[in-house]
Amino acid sequence: MCGIVGYVGKKDCTKVLLDSLKKLEYRGYDSAGVAVFENGEIKISKSKGRLAVLEQKLQKEGWINGTCGIGHTRWATHGEPSDINSHPHGSARVTIVHNGIIENYQKIKAFLIKKGYTFESETDTETVAKLLDYYYEGDPMAAIQKVLGEIEGSYALGMMFKDFPNRVYAVRKDSPLIVGVGEDEAFIASDVPAIIKYTRNYYLIDQDEIVVLDDGKAGIYDIHGMPVDKELMTADWDMEAAEKGGYPHFMLKEINDQPTAIKTTITPRINEGMPDLSECGMTLEKLSGYQNIFVVACGTAMHAGLVGKYVIEQLARVPVTVDVASEFRYRNPILSDKDLVIVVSQSGETADTLEALRLSKNVGADTLAIVNVKGSSIAREADMVLYTHAGPEISVASTKAYIVQIAVFYLIAFELAFAKGAISEEECRRLTGVLQSVPDLINVVLQQAEQCKYIASKLINAGNLLYIGRGLDYALSMEGSLKLKEISYIHSESYAAGELKHGTISLVTEGMPVIAVATQRELFDKTVSNVKEVKARGASVIFVTHSYKTIESDVAEYKIGLPTIDDILMPLPAVVPLQLIAYYTAVLKGNDVDKPRNLAKSVTVE
Ligand code: G6P
Repeated sequence: MCGIVGYVGKKDCTKVLLDSLKKLEYRGYDSAGVAVFENGEIKISKSKGRLAVLEQKLQKEGWINGTCGIGHTRWATHGEPSDINSHPHGSARVTIVHNGIIENYQKIKAFLIKKGYTFESETDTETVAKLLDYYYEGDPMAAIQKVLGEIEGSYALGMMFKDFPNRVYAVRKDSPLIVGVGEDEAFIASDVPAIIKYTRNYYLIDQDEIVVLDDGKAGIYDIHGMPVDKELMTADWDMEAAEKGGYPHFMLKEINDQPTAIKTTITPRINEGMPDLSECGMTLEKLSGYQNIFVVACGTAMHAGLVGKYVIEQLARVPVTVDVASEFRYRNPILSDKDLVIVVSQSGETADTLEALRLSKNVGADTLAIVNVKGSSIAREADMVLYTHAGPEISVASTKAYIVQIAVFYLIAFELAFAKGAISEEECRRLTGVLQSVPDLINVVLQQAEQCKYIASKLINAGNLLYIGRGLDYALSMEGSLKLKEISYIHSESYAAGELKHGTISLVTEGMPVIAVATQRELFDKTVSNVKEVKARGASVIFVTHSYKTIESDVAEYKIGLPTIDDILMPLPAVVPLQLIAYYTAVLKGNDVDKPRNLAKSVTVE
């Protein structure tokens, strides 16, 4: 989704804004723009397309020379991607950039048209700019306060007023915003990677706080204009973590980061061989009191929840319901104060997941967030938070964030099962030990990258694909299929292997690739039977299973072998070849792997 940045300092502002926006590219965007004060005038340059297009335009039409400005990457919501709809937007006196959606913009626009304002773009953002202009009588703070009283929806806004050439104003509600502070310079940004090149020190901005960057310093005020004291945060990772580190794409780097990410996430939560989640206030007593668990999330995080469901139910025998957040929040879920709602989110800013969390809190359920981004809205609002320590995930297609979410679910399942008396201390200890051995096993699986690439070469011309599996393998198939769709643009579906013959098998034709995941040994023979059904109808099968299993040629053309551990832990090594197959298919098709079309990494609108 849109990214916003702003800078006030001594450096070449246009360059700083472009550098910072590059670090927000992962959020997904289709156009970009900057506004910079040059000799007391606000100069704007914006264009449809990638940041490189904007940079070329600036070089061709004239660099904007100044030390104070705002910038934006736009992910179109209101109006197609075009030069005109790109941000910044404004009037002669006010220029703004915006991330979010103003829900009552049509009403405001109609009001402003009556007052004589005209509009260039189709965006909701332009109405905010014009409304600021309408209320502006020489005091930016007063105008901002009036506008905040009228606009509804979500926003992070960066604003400049022509009369104040050294200032950037900003405010947020339900869209992320941080303020970076360096020596004689200050920044606003949607996320920490945007500023990390310049400073590691930043403030997290709360709902409706107003930020003023002035003369290289940052002031933060409440909605009434009273200064607020904030805790200065320090990013605990450096530039390197947000760079490709020699890999051709962030996605491949992040797939390879997975062993370390798991280790970093689980190690601090294991105490003398037993899982220990007390850091977030989750005690054994509390855990054993829950009657039902709900897992609510979107996209890949929801798929991690599906693995969590199988694992918790199998080990702890506690019922778990997994919901897509956008459905959960409107289905009037039956929740009580005896229930635990686990929300899962890499970014911690996904609008539907955040609202699902708020709803759960309102009805009195306990809430636990599994979140990667420190200080994000979901992390701050949940009763308890367990951070995944994956480090920054830049590629839009999530890999390392998913695997660490699953790792946290294992710790929860082990501890819950022990708390409920469903497994012995000895078994809990043993399972925890096996979990600790997983990073090394994943390193072994990563060595099969070439084979995954070869298999990918057989998929690039496919129009359709099926992923099938049973139980935990079905949950994994969903993630494998989503990964492939996201970045290769090949249509694929995942199916419970036993359900295929109830309709979908009619799609199987000669040569159609089918990826079968069969790591659950109790279900192995049943999956083989389902595979034979598609094979008999011409499918070309790729079989993902334990290395030691022999696969006859009448079952599959290709096999990917996995190291063997307890079946319940197999999703961790088994997802890696699915990620690699999706990655190489996208690479071989020449796609923009890290920034797939139409997708955004952080979805801050409903
Ligand atoms: C977007 C991303 C997905 C992600 C989902 C949930 O759709 O493209 O990769 O899984 O949002 O994001 P979250 O940050 O809440 O995990």
